[in-house]
Amino acid sequence: MSLTSSEISHQSSAAIFPGSFDPVTVGHIDLIERSTAVFDEVIVAVACNQEKTPLFTVAERIEMIKKVFSDNPRVKVETFGGLLIDYLVKREVHVIIRGLRAVSDFEYEFQMALMNRKLAPDVETFFMTSSALYTYVSSRIVKELASLGGDVSDLVHPLVEKEIKAKYGTIKKVAD
Ligand code: PNS
Repeated sequence: MSLTSSEISHQSSAAIFPGSFDPVTVGHIDLIERSTAVFDEVIVAVACNQEKTPLFTVAERIEMIKKVFSDNPRVKVETFGGLLIDYLVKREVHVIIRGLRAVSDFEYEFQMALMNRKLAPDVETFFMTSSALYTYVSSRIVKELASLGGDVSDLVHPLVEKEIKAKYGTIKKVAD
């Protein structure tokens, strides 16, 4: 039995937006917001065990993302460990969303998408181009700039900026 277009449009859709988010940047926020215009539910999945020395704990990263999207009921925030595909299967979601900022992102993303498809052929990776304004923004750049006393107010949400300042303030005090 095939569905009519109106039946299809009434089916609810979900997608998983995975990442390290250490911390979430304006680039991520833009992509997540835009994803909610396409999918009914966007699950932001914070990977644990990715980096050995993250700036923020997984709980802190989740908390910040939850606060940033507190007025958007389509955004859910969770964490996952192990293979992303195992998490998708557990959540019964078939779409992964990833952002592409520049050609340099492509090779790694393409490799990951193909590997994920090999592991689970019914899972699709959707790529979204980042806004031209944010092509240079990354969590790594934010941390480097902030650690050296640079202004990151254009690169992260104000509440994230506050948390970053608190982290580096604490680290400096320990180091003094
Ligand atoms: O924000 P990032 O660091 O680019 O996110 C990368 C992430 C977490 C999405 C990716 O490393 C991942 O999916 N890790 C989980 C382990 C896994 O499933 N790897 C892909 C197999 S090729």
